[in-house]
Amino acid sequence: MKKIRWGILGSGNIAATFATALNSMEDSLLEAVASRSDIRAKEFAERFKIKKSYGSYEELAKDPDIDVIYIAVPHTEHKNMAGLCIKNNKAVLCEKPFTINSKDSEELINMAKEHDVFLMEAMWTKFLPVNLKVKQWIKEGKIGKVLHINAKFGFHSDYDPQRRLYNPSLGGGALLDVGVYPISYTTFILERIPDKIISSAIIGSSAVDEQNVVIFHYNDGILADLSSSISCETGGDALIVGERGIIKVDRFWSTESASLYDNRYKCIEEYKEPFKANGYEYEAAEVNRCLREGLRISSLNPLTDTLSNMKLMDEIRKQWGLVYPGE
Ligand SMILES: NC(=O)c1ccc[n+]([C@@H]2O[C@H](COP(=O)([O-])OP(=O)(O)OC[C@H]3O[C@@H](n4cnc5c(N)ncnc54)[C@H](OP(=O)(O)O)[C@@H]3O)[C@@H](O)[C@H]2O)c1
Repeated sequence: MKKIRWGILGSGNIAATFATALNSMEDSLLEAVASRSDIRAKEFAERFKIKKSYGSYEELAKDPDIDVIYIAVPHTEHKNMAGLCIKNNKAVLCEKPFTINSKDSEELINMAKEHDVFLMEAMWTKFLPVNLKVKQWIKEGKIGKVLHINAKFGFHSDYDPQRRLYNPSLGGGALLDVGVYPISYTTFILERIPDKIISSAIIGSSAVDEQNVVIFHYNDGILADLSSSISCETGGDALIVGERGIIKVDRFWSTESASLYDNRYKCIEEYKEPFKANGYEYEAAEVNRCLREGLRISSLNPLTDTLSNMKLMDEIRKQWGLVYPGE
């Protein structure tokens, strides 16, 4: 089978994690990496045994031997960097959050349509085998109608207004960085958006949300209680409660196990599936499948879902008055 040839744009933390996943896959070839610095690109290429390294993002975007480019730069750079690749007719897998706001997401989606190229948000959680099993349990009616979802993603990161997480000019804050997970997970499970949103945030001294709580209210009797934090360790499990049972997903955003209970918390079934590599291989496999089949959009993670989630985050930020520089 001809390998899908990947390029990585950026050389930070997640770029390294994704490179490890690609190198574990038989049908992927990590062809090139690009950094703003020639030296960093060379070091990254040596570390992951990559044939080509570029000291500018433009060179990668123009490389004719690349099928798809993975965008692994801060949120604020996603739109421009994904746009650069799309204009050079490259397929794109773009890190989460897709962009800073839904307006930018819409522009990017339209650009991909115009250039007729594949585009997907790297919401890797949706492709994890355990989460696909959770969806299957729900579709099979194992817990009846879903009534309540509780999902959180919170960790402690030392305050540093220069660093990406606390820096508003790099799109810092808990909502866009990790709140995107419980929000995307809820729309993934329920397959629709809420009728009402109630939310609250602690906005810190660098003017980004350090922690937040978001409630999604659905008029037919469903509540989702979602939270995220970059200042405190709140955990990462999800609980999906239905009329007849409960599903507990351990660290739902990077899960390798989930349990199904009846309404009295008697365990009915446990499902475990350790990652083949580090969990990022499943989203990469979906991109490879789409490219082989000539698809422009993944049916497992369609751009309509990405755009809906971005609009929800716009609304939540509007409730707090959180605006990023340049918006
Ligand atoms: N899917 C996941 O599990 C996951 C996990 C972590 C992060 N992410 C997402 O991935 C993106 C990158 O996160 P990260 O943790 O990898 O960040 P990071 O370690 O800070 O790396 C970001 C890289 O982007 C490049 N870059 C380009 N413009 C930049 C700028 N103006 N300021 C700083 N760096 C810039 C830098 O590489 P060069 O200078 O070498 O070009 C830098 O190494 C974020 O959008 C984040 O939300 C996803």
